[in-house]
Amino acid sequence: NRRVTVRDLALAKERGEKWPMLTAYDAMTASVFDESGIPVLLVGDSMGNCHLGYESTVPVTLDEVAMLTAAVVRGTRHSLVLADLPFGSYQEGAVQALRSATRLVKESGAGAVKLEGGERSADQIDLLVRSGIPVMAHVGLTPQSVHAMGYRVQGRGEEAAQQLLRDAKAVQDAGAFAVVLELVPGQVAAEVTRSLHIPTVGIGAGPDCDAQVLVWTDMAGLTPGKLPRFVKRYAELRSALGEAATAFAEDVAGGAYPGAEHTVS
Ligand code: KIV
Ligand code: NA
Repeated sequence: NRRVTVRDLALAKERGEKWPMLTAYDAMTASVFDESGIPVLLVGDSMGNCHLGYESTVPVTLDEVAMLTAAVVRGTRHSLVLADLPFGSYQEGAVQALRSATRLVKESGAGAVKLEGGERSADQIDLLVRSGIPVMAHVGLTPQSVHAMGYRVQGRGEEAAQQLLRDAKAVQDAGAFAVVLELVPGQVAAEVTRSLHIPTVGIGAGPDCDAQVLVWTDMAGLTPGKLPRFVKRYAELRSALGEAATAFAEDVAGGAYPGAEHTVS
């Protein structure tokens, strides 16, 4: 009855076992995923889009990640809780990254942190890992760089594929325990996965990664509008919740709720 550790994830790769990861932003949703046996929950900076109403991940603050990470930790018993370092909380260098990550581990109870970038973030990863904080890296499409790269497939073409491989090797050499590959061609993700001894966690990166991650509001059908092609919707929470709200409104207007069974006399 202990929490999943990064060592368990390394063993899974050795055994060829694939594992799922979901985002979570609050205690109650996190408790559902924890009870469902999802081994890793990411308090992603996708909270900007999915939870806080921002248009991207860029405005998300360390305070916001710290608060929601603490909630997810309180709501879970088994899952490894991984906190995203938000934009601006690690780009200044390794010391800033350590200060930010320390807060998420010490104050919020995160078991590991994630940050974006390959070669460019190797110094930060190295210091965090030497300080005892497990780090997941994130290469390919890195949404915190949306103003520079847009939301486009990365690693397409021989040169870009080679750079992606160099980035993935750089984070492995710096000590990362795993690396997210976001929106890269399936063949490139497969080659990176074969080339690394640490697990790759794919999102829009095809079936050959060691693990798969989805944003929970996407996979559960709560996110409105058109979703990227790589998302599979496993539920239709948006319509289910909307129907519940409409039924409640009608019951109140028509006097059907509350009934005698809901009323003390
Ligand atoms: O913030 C997030 O949800 C992420 C995943 C998409 C990997 O970084
Ligand atoms: Na993120």
